[in-house]
Amino acid sequence: MSSKLLITGGCGFIGSNFVRLARRVRPGQALVILDKLTYAGNLENLDGLLDDPEVSLVRGDIADRRCVAAVLDRGVDRVVNFAAESHVDRSIEDASAFIQTNVVGTQVLLEECRRAAVKRFLQVSTDEVYGSLAPPASARSDDPLTPSSPYSASKAAADLFALADHKTYGTDVVVTRATNNYGPYQFPEKMLPLMITQALEDRPLPVYGDGLQIRDWIHVEDHCEGLLLALERGRPGRIYHLGAGEEHTNLDMVHRLLAQLKKPPTLIKHVTDRPGHDRRYSLDTGSTRDELGWAPTHTLERGLAQTIEWYLSHRGWWDKIKSGEYRSYYERLYGTGGRYAATTSEVTRGSQVP
Ligand code: NAD
Ligand code: DAU
Repeated sequence: MSSKLLITGGCGFIGSNFVRLARRVRPGQALVILDKLTYAGNLENLDGLLDDPEVSLVRGDIADRRCVAAVLDRGVDRVVNFAAESHVDRSIEDASAFIQTNVVGTQVLLEECRRAAVKRFLQVSTDEVYGSLAPPASARSDDPLTPSSPYSASKAAADLFALADHKTYGTDVVVTRATNNYGPYQFPEKMLPLMITQALEDRPLPVYGDGLQIRDWIHVEDHCEGLLLALERGRPGRIYHLGAGEEHTNLDMVHRLLAQLKKPPTLIKHVTDRPGHDRRYSLDTGSTRDELGWAPTHTLERGLAQTIEWYLSHRGWWDKIKSGEYRSYYERLYGTGGRYAATTSEVTRGSQVP
């Protein structure tokens, strides 16, 4: 049977960008996408790609063993696991789906990959597993994991299961950890697309606490290029760090967006801080860059301008999302009586200052 790459979570933000990249740069590689199509999965993210005879889609759950086994038995020889519950605020509301998909789902995938003698398993993970870091420290891949949120705790557990699979059974597992992604097709619950779409609607931009939390922003295409290299060149049992070195406060990012959109800073509303909010994430990417021969190519300025352009020219895509189930989510969090309803002008105590 011919070679097939399974992409779980391929209907989400990063997974769909990865499918697009893989079709462009590895046109001979057949792809199977397995996606549960949760609220975050969207067939429109694969616009045009599903007509391609080399791309097939199965709607299913990575925690459903029978479904996973049937998909792997189609001749899959490598797997990239993007499938996850990915939003920190939702994990604070209720962690059960995070445990079920991120932990149980990953463990089912690993076991079934072993049974089906899959040649390589790439687990897509996050810088959040290291917890908050005071400047100027950057996390190295042998640093201890100190996750703060239920989301990052579930991702850390999944990483440990993946690495344990390699150590115990000798399977070929690679883990990547990346910083905050931005770019096209990102669901508007995440900070950047939330702020862009709110500003376009002249609605308030809810900044948690003092807004001085720091994230490193990587363009999703740079992340996907790193993932492809890790899949092809990474060594079994290794952890690779994918970050752009673009560390900025949330307030700085919001001001950049407003300036590009020509909207007034008065739209910014400081609200109650996120519980357990990590103050800063940062990855040491040196050895990954050397070993994989990878480096990001998007500048933040250009990448943000392109991202804003994309949201401007795809209003139908996000209008549809924002008028559906999303409305009750938004009201629950940001509406009257919601966790982030209260305006605050002072530094709040939610953030984890390392
Ligand atoms: P996303 O929420 O946009 O997409 C997740 C996708 O997984 C959706 O298509 C959803 O339908 C699917 N899915 C969820 N549960 C599933 C299940 N049980 N079975 C099959 N499919 C399921 O997420 P994203 O932002 O694209 O993140 C993708 C991966 O990258 C995640 O593992 C996340 O932890 C990791 N990551 C994200 C970022 C970021 O900044 N977004 C940074 C580092 C790592
Ligand atoms: O660091 C990688 C992680 O980045 C990924 O593993 C996660 O899947 C992804 O969701 C993202 O997590 P964050 O919590 O950093 O992203 P989010 O977009 O939710 O928030 C970014 C920052 O902006 C964070 O400090 C919280 C803040 N924020 C977020 C929202 C949604 C606000 O100030 N206001 C908001 O309304």
